[in-house]
Amino acid sequence: MNLASVVLAAGQGKRMNSSLPKVLHKLNGHTMLEHVLKTLHTLKLQKIVVVVGKHFQEIKESLKAHQAISFAHQKEAKGTGDALLKTKKAIKGFHGTILIVNGDSPLITRDTLQNLLTLHRKKKDIISLVSFIATEPGSYGRVIRDATGDIVSIIENRDATESQKKIKEVNSGIYAIESDALHLLKKIPLNKSKGEYYLTDIIGIAKDKGIKVGAYCIGSEDELMGINTQEELELAKRFMKDRIVKEWGKRRVSFVDTSSVFISSDVEIGKDTKIYPNVHLEGNTKIGKGCIIYPNVRIQNSIIEDRAVIKDSTLIEDSLVKEKASVGPFAHIRPGSQIGAGAKIGNFVEVKKSVIGSGTKASHLSYLGDAKIGKDVNIGAGTITCNYDGYHKHITVIGDKVFIGSDTQLVAPVKIGKGAYVGAGSTITKDVPSMALALSRGHQQNIKGWALKKKLKGKSEKLKVKKKLIW
Ligand code: UD1
Ligand code: CA
Repeated sequence: MNLASVVLAAGQGKRMNSSLPKVLHKLNGHTMLEHVLKTLHTLKLQKIVVVVGKHFQEIKESLKAHQAISFAHQKEAKGTGDALLKTKKAIKGFHGTILIVNGDSPLITRDTLQNLLTLHRKKKDIISLVSFIATEPGSYGRVIRDATGDIVSIIENRDATESQKKIKEVNSGIYAIESDALHLLKKIPLNKSKGEYYLTDIIGIAKDKGIKVGAYCIGSEDELMGINTQEELELAKRFMKDRIVKEWGKRRVSFVDTSSVFISSDVEIGKDTKIYPNVHLEGNTKIGKGCIIYPNVRIQNSIIEDRAVIKDSTLIEDSLVKEKASVGPFAHIRPGSQIGAGAKIGNFVEVKKSVIGSGTKASHLSYLGDAKIGKDVNIGAGTITCNYDGYHKHITVIGDKVFIGSDTQLVAPVKIGKGAYVGAGSTITKDVPSMALALSRGHQQNIKGWALKKKLKGKSEKLKVKKKLIW
């Protein structure tokens, strides 16, 4: 069966009170329009047409990464009926079913779209739509049914009588229309109260002509809500967040508090991973099996392999943390870093564009930037790779099994050979050969009795001052 889809996205979105086109507002890392398109891409569609309005440049730009989309241009937002009419050229030559969705309904699911198409075909409808029961029907179009329960028409809220306004079954804005019925669009009259051509009027028009129409109440409000205001966007964000967390919960990911976890829709999480409160998993992040992510962690576009532990208040960006590694608390792994298997990056350690070998430990207060660090290295507390000379970044190379004493500055470019030791408090400016000890600190001098003399001197000074005051 031939199937195409049209996404209506040319409206003004005035009720959002924002200069950003409505469908470009984001929830969970993606625009409303991207969410809708992502769901549509899961169906076998011959064509997807997005109707764009005066913001067409911005919208096209935002969809650069999406292939196989055609655009139809509705210069003036003259209503949803007019918007569909504007796709005439883009869908010319297509014969089959057209699935129409509003661009401001980002939570719609594949299941509901598929269920509509199944019912549409089974009942041999020419036009059908998805309805739902709204707790507050507000601005939605009301589904008017006859005594036998068949849909008769849709009445928009602003045109509804007081008794029609009480109807809780509303139109979701998802329709399946046979291409042969599109000629009915021309029969839609201008709605005088809004100055628009309502797509919803096609139901009444078809019904009057004896054309078979159907309305199926097959989805819930938290999936089918349309977003017209900032408040509705906030509500949709919550619905989406809850839905994603619930899905992962079903796949054996455990959460200490589901209400305070944010997971982007592209994230993947392995079984038996435990996630504490206030964790944000963003972008294309992949978390392995059996990991523990402690509170206040944000991970963006990163891979965390199996059984790694990310401790409290840690930020990881565009990096790879290999299996059984431990990062945090209070660590910052900046883009381009790789933390080796079983390695430990501890308290207040910042790693930037560096490779940390397996089993290596940097447990406290360090900056490791542009460094290539081997296996089983010990990085002492307070070690700093001085990678920037004010103009250029330079590389520090540290071989396997090196021991870097605390408070060392490694002035790059510099190499520390395998198995070498660097004494605590050293400033290393020259390469250190393998198995050598490098020391670069002043010799210690102990002056016997110095402190005692100082104290005695201090006492006699104080006595002099006192005597002066008395006299
Ligand atoms: C619409 C329906 C309403 C339904 C609700 C579901 C109409 C007349 N009403 O109302 O029955 O309950 O959706 O959420 O269709 N658009 C255009 N061109 C335009 C106007 C709108 O492309 O000239 C697009 C918008 O960008 C939006 C979609 O169509 O994505 C719906 O438009 P909107 O103004 O939000 O309609 P609602 O008032 O919500
Ligand atoms: Ca809407």
